[in-house]
Amino acid sequence: MTSTLDTLNTSFAIANALHFSEANPGLPVAEIHTPLASARVALHGGHVLSWQPAGQKPVLWVSKAAIFEAGKPVRGGVPVCWPWFGAVPGKPMHGFVRTMMWQVRGTDIDAAGQVVLRLGIRDDAATRALWDRAFDLEMVVTVGTTLTMALITRNTGDVPMTITQALHTYFCTGDITQTVVQGLNGDSYLDKVQNFAVCQQSGDVRFTGETDRIYTETAADSLINDAAGGRTIRIAKQGSETTVVWNPWAEKEKGMVDMAAGEYQQMLCVETCNAGPDAVTVAAGETRSLVARISVE
Ligand code: BG6
Repeated sequence: MTSTLDTLNTSFAIANALHFSEANPGLPVAEIHTPLASARVALHGGHVLSWQPAGQKPVLWVSKAAIFEAGKPVRGGVPVCWPWFGAVPGKPMHGFVRTMMWQVRGTDIDAAGQVVLRLGIRDDAATRALWDRAFDLEMVVTVGTTLTMALITRNTGDVPMTITQALHTYFCTGDITQTVVQGLNGDSYLDKVQNFAVCQQSGDVRFTGETDRIYTETAADSLINDAAGGRTIRIAKQGSETTVVWNPWAEKEKGMVDMAAGEYQQMLCVETCNAGPDAVTVAAGETRSLVARISVE
C-alpha cells in the first residue's frame, strides 16, 4: 500500500528543492531547500515551522519543548489563527485551523527561484460543529530571501461571514532585553496585561516583562531590531491593520508545558492580524487576503 508520504512526494516533490518527510508519524512536513533559503511547512495547521535565508541564522523560533501531535498547536513558527483570533468562550483559543490537517494544493518554483507551496482547507462536519460557515482557506507560502505568507479566505456560502485572524509569527532574537520593535510609535494598543486598557505607544517597543499588546490601525512595516543577534527583521503586510506583540516572560512561561525554561529570552511574536475593531466581513462569494512579507536586513 502506498503511504501518504509516498503519494505526496509522487504528486508534489520538486527535485533538489522540495520533498515531504514526517515530523512525527502521520504529520507530513514539506522540506524546502534551495540556493535562496530553507524552510519547513507542516500540513497540520498549514504551519510554517522554519525559514532560514541562505547565509542567515534561523529567523523563526520554535520551542525545544514544542509538541508535534495531531490536534495540538505547535509553540513556534507561524500558527494560523482563524476564523477568530484570541479567546472565544467554549471554543478553541485562536480558532481551529491551526490544529487541523490541511491539503497540499500545489508546489512550484517561480522565475526568481522561489518555492511556492499552496495548502488549503475547507469546511466539513468538524469545522461546522465549531463554526457554521462554508469556506475555503488557502495558505500560499513563498520561500526565497523573503518569506511571503498569504492567507486567503473565500466565503463559499451565501451569507456574509465575519472573521478575525493572525499569522501568529514567532521570531528568534539574541536577547529579548536588547530587542526593540520599531514602526509602532504613536499607535494605540489594547494592553492585555492591563485588562485591555487602551494605551499609546511612545517610541520603540522595549521588553522588560510580560508583553501582550494589540496595536490597532497599524498598516506600516514593523522592524525587529535584534541588537544581540546583530540583525533587523522587517515584517511588511497587506490586508492587516492590527499588529500583536507578545512575549510571555518568565512567570507565564513556567505555566506553559510547551516552552522550556528561560526560552522567553530568545523569542518574541510580532503577529500580522485582523483583530479587535479590525474584524473582516467577507461577503458571499468574496475573497480576502492577509499577507505578511518577512525579510532580514
Ligand atoms: C497571543 C495572545 O497572540 O498568543 C496571547 O495575544 C496568547 O494572549 C498567545 O497567550 C499564545 O496563545 P496560545 O493559545 O498559542 O498559547
